[in-house]
Amino acid sequence: MKKFDVIIIGAGAAGMMCGAVAGSSGRSVLLIDKAQKLGEKIRISGGGRCNFTNIYTSPDNFISQNPHFCKSALAGYTPYDFITLVEAYGISWFEKQKGQLFCKDSASQIIEMLKSECGKANNEFLLGVQASNISKAGNHFSLTTEKQSFMCDKLVIATGGPSIPKIGASGFGYKIAKQFGLNVISPEPALVPLVFTDRLKKHLQNLSGVSVDVRISCGEVWFEDALLFTHRGLSGPAILQISSYWQAGRAIKINLVPDMDIFAALKQARLEKPKQRASAFLAQFIPKALARFFTKGYENKHLADLSDKMLYSLADNINNWRLKPAGTEGFRKAEVTKGGVDTAELSSKTMQANKLAGLYFIGEVVDVTGHLGGHNFQWA
Ligand code: FDA
Repeated sequence: MKKFDVIIIGAGAAGMMCGAVAGSSGRSVLLIDKAQKLGEKIRISGGGRCNFTNIYTSPDNFISQNPHFCKSALAGYTPYDFITLVEAYGISWFEKQKGQLFCKDSASQIIEMLKSECGKANNEFLLGVQASNISKAGNHFSLTTEKQSFMCDKLVIATGGPSIPKIGASGFGYKIAKQFGLNVISPEPALVPLVFTDRLKKHLQNLSGVSVDVRISCGEVWFEDALLFTHRGLSGPAILQISSYWQAGRAIKINLVPDMDIFAALKQARLEKPKQRASAFLAQFIPKALARFFTKGYENKHLADLSDKMLYSLADNINNWRLKPAGTEGFRKAEVTKGGVDTAELSSKTMQANKLAGLYFIGEVVDVTGHLGGHNFQWA
């Protein structure tokens, strides 16, 4: 049985970062991953350019049952620490918007950088291998793979969440947490497109591909960003952000023209252009098909024919469109997983399980979920 100081299961963003740091202080480290290639989620992230951090990352950008849990880790390693590492490797980057930093060339540069850091720290890798039979005896953990058995003093679970199963994502980390008696907050898809009810789909699927800048809210939470109509529902950054707060059965509110009071503008237009049709007026600010959808029933009426009540109801739909999605696109399309290993079970300073010395959970497997925009890699 081969022995290491540290074994990390999952060689994604969090696992490789951990391996590099643990190994740099002289510990022997083995990283085990069931995938053949390292950091597959990094590779597909940010449209292939990896939105690797966000200069404005703060605890407010994370969802967790304990919103304070992430504070210590975020303060201990800031976006500027990561930028320093990225620049040390000569990786050119740019700020796309809202503090989101992307590689100028390719996400694979981030994978190569982490691989190289692990190499400098003499980490060993075992790829294409599944770990099983994990147990603790005395001060050691033991585990087996198809070919070999291993022992370690410290076992780190960095297996991420189940989003995008087709690239090997799994709920393995939750299984290990439960095996050792740790609570797991029910995992749910987050940063995920929403799907229309059949009724809405019938009216709106012809808008597929259309993008609108909106203000979107669910309860007290709101975001301003682009919304994209798809053939099945809604996507784009605004929808992905709000999806992390949405629950089945709840409505979301969309302000399709956030910088304008449409009721006031409609009343003004009725005075100035009484012969204009409502759909033509709205089509100045929103896509035509959407304008037609909201003016159904009075297609042939001029603005002069519409009462204040009718104008108000029309404007309310534009500035305050309430709709109930039928659901989400699920883990298949979710960028991240909300929920995971309960932070109440872990030390916020070390990520070690309170109940079991030597067992650690890091990255997305933990119940800390970032907003869209580079926060999830900063957490990882
Ligand atoms: P990650 O999922 O990266 O790694 C887990 C590793 O564990 C994987 O290599 C997996 O193969 C391995 N594993 C799983 N089960 C195992 C088992 N049983 N045995 C052994 N190994 C096992 N975030 C961001 O900040 N900026 C961005 O641009 C994007 N873009 C983006 C696009 C898309 C399409 C997705 C799906 C996700 C993003 N994200 C993102 C989110 C980001 O990718 C995610 O939060 C991090 O990769 C999480 O890092 P982890 O290391 O925790 O898990």
